[in-house]
Amino acid sequence: MLSAFAADPEMSRQGDVTDLESAEAYIRQLTDRSQDNLAFAVVDRGRCVGVVAINGSRQHQLGWFFYWVHPGTRGRGVMSQAAATVANWALGHGEDDDGGFYRLELGHRENNPASGRIAAAAGFLQEGLEREKFEVGGERVDVLTYGRLRSDPPAVVGHLPLRCQQEVTCS
Ligand SMILES: CC(C)(COP(=O)(O)OP(=O)(O)OC[C@H]1O[C@@H](n2cnc3c(N)ncnc32)[C@H](O)[C@@H]1OP(=O)(O)O)[C@@H](O)C(=O)NCCC(=O)NCCS
Repeated sequence: MLSAFAADPEMSRQGDVTDLESAEAYIRQLTDRSQDNLAFAVVDRGRCVGVVAINGSRQHQLGWFFYWVHPGTRGRGVMSQAAATVANWALGHGEDDDGGFYRLELGHRENNPASGRIAAAAGFLQEGLEREKFEVGGERVDVLTYGRLRSDPPAVVGHLPLRCQQEVTCS
C-alpha cells in the first residue's frame, strides 16, 4: 500500500496514505463491513499489487466499484482481469459464489482512458457524462459514469482465482 501511494502522486485521489498508520486505516476503511464496504487485494507472488473494492449499500444491493494497481504492475492487463473477476462475483456470475449485488456503479475522469477500458472489460456500460465535475491541476474535468446490472451479460476476460477470507455478501 505504502509503496503504491508513494510511487504515484495520482494515488492521493484514492485515499490519504503516507505512513504505516494511515495505510492500516485505509485498509480498515476499505473493508469496514459496518459500512457495507468490501475489498479484494490483487496478489502477485504473495504481495498486494492492487485493490478492487466495492462500497455497498445493503438496502438497494447497490455498490460503488473502484480499483487501482501499483505503478510497478501497470501496463500488463492485470486490472482488467481482476475487475472482471470481482464484478462477476458481485453480480452472481462467479464460479461458485455470489456477492449478492444487483447493480454496480463506477466513474472515471475523461482523461483516464485506461480506466474506461477496464470498466468495459469488466462488463460495465457507460451511462452518462458528468460535465466538468472535478478540478484537476486548475482545469475542470468531465467524469464518465458506468453501471452494470445483475441481468447484464457477464464479463468474459480471463478469470482470476478469487479467495474470500471471510464470508462477504450484500444480500
Ligand atoms: C487505471 C489503472 C487501474 C489502469 O491500470 P493499467 O495496468 O495501467 O491498465 P492497462 O495498461 O492494463 O490498460 C488497460 C487498457 O487501457 C488501454 N490504455 C492504456 N492507456 C491508454 C490510453 N492512454 N488511451 C487509450 N487506452 C489506453 C490499454 O491498452 C488496455 O487496453 P486493453 O485492455 O484493450 O488491452 C491504473 O492506471 C491505476 O491504478 N490508476 C490510478 C487509480 C485509478 O485511476 N483508478 C481508476 C479509477 S476507479
